[in-house]
Amino acid sequence: MAATALELATRQVKCLSMFDFKPDTGCPKPETYRQLQQAAAALTEGEPDAVANMANVAALLGDFLPDLNWAGFYRVVDSELVLGPFVGRPACIRIPFGKGVCGTAAADVETQLVEDVHAFPGHIACDSETNSELVVPVVRDGVVVAVIDLDSPSLARFDDEDREGIEKLAEIISERI
Ligand code: SME
Repeated sequence: MAATALELATRQVKCLSMFDFKPDTGCPKPETYRQLQQAAAALTEGEPDAVANMANVAALLGDFLPDLNWAGFYRVVDSELVLGPFVGRPACIRIPFGKGVCGTAAADVETQLVEDVHAFPGHIACDSETNSELVVPVVRDGVVVAVIDLDSPSLARFDDEDREGIEKLAEIISERI
C-alpha cells in the first residue's frame, strides 16, 4: 500500500533527526541491555525496511557492547543462512542450517552460548581472532527468520545476562526485520 503524505513526512523527519543513542558508561550489564533494547525499539519503530533496521541494530550492538570483534545478522533465505548487516570484518556469506554455531542456533531454534569456539564441533572460523560467541535465533510466528551473532576475541566473554539481553532484543525486533 502506498505511504500517506503524513507517513512520508514522518520518515523525512526521521532521516534528518539525530539518532544519537549512546550507552551510559559503567552501568551494570542488565542496564546496558535495557538501554540497548530501548534504542533498538525506538530506531526501528514504524520503519518497514528490514535491511535498514538490521543495519541500525548491528551498529547499536557494536556501540553498546564492549569486547566484540563482530556483531550482526544472518538471515534465513531459502532454507540457509545468508550474511546480513553487521559491524566487523568481512564474514562467511552462506551457512547451511545445522552447520557452525549460527547454523546450529537456527536449526535447533536455540541460543548458542559458546565459551570457547575452538571446542565447538564444526565452528566456522570467519575471523581467527574470535574465541567466544553468542548466537540467538530471531523467531517470528514460530519460524526462525534470522540469527543475531556476536563474536569476541576473549574466551568466555558471554554469560547468561548477555543471553537474556540479546534474546529480549531478538523478541523486540522480530516483527521489524
Ligand atoms: N562463527 C560462526 C560463523 C559466522 S562468523 O562468526 C561471523 C559460526 O560458527 O557459525
